[in-house]
Amino acid sequence: MNLLNKFHHWRRKRRWNKQYKRGRWDSLKSDMEAKRYYKIIDYFNQFAPENPAILDIGCGDGVLNERLGDFKYDYFLGVDFSRVSIEKAKAKQFPKAEFLAEDAIKFRPKRDFDAIVFNEAFYYIPESEKTPVLDLMLDHLTNDGILITSIFREGTGCWEYFKENPRLKEIAFETITTKKEQTYWKIGVYKKVEELRS
Ligand SMILES: C[S@@+](CC[C@H](N)C(=O)[O-])C[C@H]1O[C@@H](n2cnc3c(N)ncnc32)[C@H](O)[C@@H]1O
Repeated sequence: MNLLNKFHHWRRKRRWNKQYKRGRWDSLKSDMEAKRYYKIIDYFNQFAPENPAILDIGCGDGVLNERLGDFKYDYFLGVDFSRVSIEKAKAKQFPKAEFLAEDAIKFRPKRDFDAIVFNEAFYYIPESEKTPVLDLMLDHLTNDGILITSIFREGTGCWEYFKENPRLKEIAFETITTKKEQTYWKIGVYKKVEELRS
């Protein structure tokens, strides 16, 4: 990233912190939003190895954890560059879960994961960093693991990173609609091509 983009990135981080402080993102806990979290959990059940280790990039204040219910997992790591959201997530004391205040761009996983999630987060990664971030995450996805991406509305400029990625094979894709015409999400599930070949 050049200096100007670094500055914009820093400003965006500050904005997220302010918004989490004000409760701007409490709306993610609404019943309308719940549908997309439940779809992700449904995909965990269908396609992830049993008792998975999960990595949630751009996890916010842990809404996915709140929605997990009795889903069985071995370990959950949430990463978000908003310190405020991470403090909120930590305060909820989810079992078998850790939260890190780190930028996805700089984050280096210390282990592999069976499920990696970009839940309404991938489009916020700066353009020049999208491929390196995705590549690094794929290096830390277990061979039989899954990558799940949820993107609001059309996800212009995002889906091609997954759909046209030679390392990935799409195994499921769905549009989650709501009563509001303009409120919908697309959710895709991917496996590494190496695994499908073996
Ligand atoms: C719309 S919120 C979604 C939060 C959560 N995934 C959910 O669906 O409940 C987007 C999140 O991405 C985080 N984010 C944006 N850019 C990021 C980056 N470069 N590294 C880590 N987190 C980032 C924001 O702080 C915010 O928490």
